[in-house]
Amino acid sequence: MQLYLDTASVAEIKEAASWGILAGVTTNPTLVAKEGRPFVRILEEICEIVKGPVSAEVVGQDAETMVKEARELSRVAPNIVVKIPITVEGLKAVSRVSREGIRTNVTLIFTPLQALLAARAGASYVSPFVGRLDDIGHTGLEVVQDTVEIFDQHGIETQVIAASIRHPVHVLEAARAGAHVATVPFAVLKAMVLHPLTDRGLERFLADWAKVPPSAMPGN
Ligand code: E4P
Repeated sequence: MQLYLDTASVAEIKEAASWGILAGVTTNPTLVAKEGRPFVRILEEICEIVKGPVSAEVVGQDAETMVKEARELSRVAPNIVVKIPITVEGLKAVSRVSREGIRTNVTLIFTPLQALLAARAGASYVSPFVGRLDDIGHTGLEVVQDTVEIFDQHGIETQVIAASIRHPVHVLEAARAGAHVATVPFAVLKAMVLHPLTDRGLERFLADWAKVPPSAMPGN
């Protein structure tokens, strides 16, 4: 399973990219609004740092406007993937732009059937929202599991991105379910690195190393 960062913050993306684990980025209108900067400038900066897929979302409501926005967004950089919501108009837009070779990530997926429709319309990616389903008392991961299973059974190549990730256990469950990607907020990515036994172990190693003669490390 690949890891994407779910953010429009260039600082967060730079930091995660320096860890060597970042395969892509997803943004959405809410994340972009937090940055208070022009959308296209943000996308250009992100695409300079990350060469993998960078999702940028349309805001038009009708297929015609979505198609126009998708074409414009895809011109920003070759690795832009256009995010389109799962609506009837969204499906029409996905089917049109995918025939032009524009890659799409169909967003706001809450059922496996929505994912199936998106895939059949030509989506490159579908994004089931795990956390938002958990918030209303459902088991969000089931949508990821079912979608992965259905796509496998029917030879569908559309990739499943586990989205709306709230904590490291969501990432673990997405990996177990066979999601191709988890798109993770930076706070969750940082939490994935941490373990108290790692901290305690490192403290102990360093304390013990202080007892070793200074010249012991090669190069000293
Ligand atoms: C997906 O690509 C969305 O950007 C995102 O995961 C939504 O997450 P949220 O439910 O935390 O807003």
